[in-house]
Amino acid sequence: MTGGGGMAERRVLILGGCGFIGSNFIQHLHQQQPETHITIFDLLTYAGSLDNLGELTESPSVDFVQGDLAEADDFAKLSDNYDLAINFAAETHVDRSLYDADRFVRSNVLGVVNLLLWCRERELPLLQISTDEVYGPARDHQSFDETAPLNPTSPYAASKGAADLMVQTAVKTFGQQAAIVRTCNNYGPRQYPEKLIPFCIHRARQGLALPLYGNGRQRRCWLRVEDFCAALLRVIADFPTGEVINIGSDSERENVAVVEQIRQQIGGSAEIEFVADRPGHDHLYRISSAKFVKRYGEIPQRAFESGLRETIDWYQANPGIFQRLSDSATQTFFEQHYQQPDKP
Ligand code: DAU
Repeated sequence: MTGGGGMAERRVLILGGCGFIGSNFIQHLHQQQPETHITIFDLLTYAGSLDNLGELTESPSVDFVQGDLAEADDFAKLSDNYDLAINFAAETHVDRSLYDADRFVRSNVLGVVNLLLWCRERELPLLQISTDEVYGPARDHQSFDETAPLNPTSPYAASKGAADLMVQTAVKTFGQQAAIVRTCNNYGPRQYPEKLIPFCIHRARQGLALPLYGNGRQRRCWLRVEDFCAALLRVIADFPTGEVINIGSDSERENVAVVEQIRQQIGGSAEIEFVADRPGHDHLYRISSAKFVKRYGEIPQRAFESGLRETIDWYQANPGIFQRLSDSATQTFFEQHYQQPDKP
């Protein structure tokens, strides 16, 4: 990876480009717009890996800078020469946020405050990637649009909501060029295997119990990460300064149905086990994508069951990703979270 490139080249700064959605987006962007120069800024926490970039680490149009958004001094490692910044960087696992809320505030809130200031000083447009969880749980008849009040119920969601408010404040107070995209449960290759789908694939491969919280009837809306990335590319082409855009999915499924498909496809002796519920577990998240559809057209959406089948195949073909679970902090978290009867 080296710098360089002509004057006319578009230069995009991707914060958190070594994580799940960030790395998938970079692959997609590079494929669709090979002329775009990409600089990745990533802390390489437990959830990020240069392996997620694959051959792109060799590409002359991709640079990598290791740094922490929460350390304002780390921004000095970057140049001033970008056309757009997109922030995927975040602590994202709801269960970890139950034990480690301060880390979530540091990365997700302080990190975004630093990033906003740095972008403002350079008049660099910033797209903040956020989540449906900031709206809190939906009732059966509800689907939140972008005007719905924020009602987060986990430290993770609260930190993402706080970051969104900081972005909106910067737009209003300083006229900053910034926008927010909120999406639902993305799934697909390279997701850190603590999340429901890859976690259960890993367990099923070993014939271990597949832990479902509570009665397993909670619902999530699932969007293939490649489909989200394609939708995001359209938003970037017509940057919605000052706005929030939801990018959701019609594939709403109960957790038990998702895990049952994994169990059947992997085969073997793994069985579902109903375990103590996640404290504050939200029954359902549901967002309306009507604004996106009106402005940018239909969201590409692969049918969930075939998308999940392909995703399971990917993890089966790339089992090396499960080795990332062996870091000691993750092992400690798993012991704390799954093996103790009393959660926080
Ligand atoms: O909705 C978007 C959000 O989706 C993102 O903002 C988050 O970063 C991402 O982590 C995800 O949050 P969830 O809490 O929905 O994802 P998770 O994979 O942790 O859990 C999915 C569902 O499965 C949820 O209802 C909790 C349940 N679950 C999860 C795990 C890890 C279980 O029943 N057992 C488990 O062991």
